[in-house]
Amino acid sequence: MTSVLITGPSRNLGRATTLALADRGADLLLVGRNLSAVAGEARDRGARVHELTADLSRLADVRAAAAAAKNLIDTGTVRPLRALIANAGLMSGDTRRTSADGHELTFAVNYLAHAQLVADLHTTLTAPARIVLLGSNTYHQNIWRRLLNVAEARWRDPLDLARPSDDPPGVAYSNAKLAILYYAHELQRHVAPGIGVTVFEPGWMPGTALGRDAPPAARAVGRALGRFPGVANPERSGPALASVALDDRWAHLRDGAFVLRDHVIEAKPVAHDRARERRLWEATAHLLAVPA
Ligand SMILES: NC(=O)c1ccc[n+]([C@@H]2O[C@H](COP(=O)([O-])OP(=O)(O)OC[C@H]3O[C@@H](n4cnc5c(N)ncnc54)[C@H](OP(=O)(O)O)[C@@H]3O)[C@@H](O)[C@H]2O)c1
Repeated sequence: MTSVLITGPSRNLGRATTLALADRGADLLLVGRNLSAVAGEARDRGARVHELTADLSRLADVRAAAAAAKNLIDTGTVRPLRALIANAGLMSGDTRRTSADGHELTFAVNYLAHAQLVADLHTTLTAPARIVLLGSNTYHQNIWRRLLNVAEARWRDPLDLARPSDDPPGVAYSNAKLAILYYAHELQRHVAPGIGVTVFEPGWMPGTALGRDAPPAARAVGRALGRFPGVANPERSGPALASVALDDRWAHLRDGAFVLRDHVIEAKPVAHDRARERRLWEATAHLLAVPA
């Protein structure tokens, strides 16, 4: 079988995905905080689990976790790494807050930390292999999101996106998710031919901890909406994400194909922009090399 690395496995989508991966018999490399409970649950299902504790708002932690993962793989302690799932994410309630490296927190955790992890580990993947990044439809506006007051992305130069700002939290979140799409398209041009890059959108899962910085009333509404039949939740979307990482059915995916739970959809034209993709790649190299 195979090994899979996943970030942010401690709760909700990450936890449900981790347990689905365990049920598929994968060795697991868990990267994030608060790992012991989910690691125990995965072991109870028979998985071999390695806990790589890292706060993804610290690039030094990310690099250390990548080095530890590489060592486990290079020494044959775990089986070949066939999938990397960049699941961890947050929507910081205050876009003036920065990571340990001085970058705006949402951009730092959702995007930059994963760009660092992939930079450090993509050559450690054994082809055929998959890199699955977490996207969100909030990168563009539609009538439902307008009604629910969900902010769409407002793109600008990535060095500026990485700075603390006065953006509403939703705008910073949507910008980070649009960055994931641009990055996925560009990443496919830089990895070995046997590696497919995919972007997974789990569907709107109200009531997860993503909105933990939101006012209590908004969180209560989210929890209530999450109980409606047909609304996405981690228990359904987690196994779908595990499937995209491992199942033969999805082996053909590459070029940042956008998967909404269990079907591929076309990303909007705004998500395909060669100039922005190239600029993001250059700016990311700069941000990862130079302290803010
Ligand atoms: N919820 C939705 O409707 C929705 C829709 C589209 C896309 N997504 C995406 O799906 C992914 C999972 O979302 P979710 O709803 O399951 O969110 P969640 O309940 O907030 O879980 C987020 C995970 O990320 C981890 N994380 C956050 N900041 C971290 C940090 N600094 N260092 C290490 N780990 C960190 C959390 O760890 P801790 O437990 O230690 O905090 C947790 O495991 C995210 O990428 C999100 O953007 C969600």
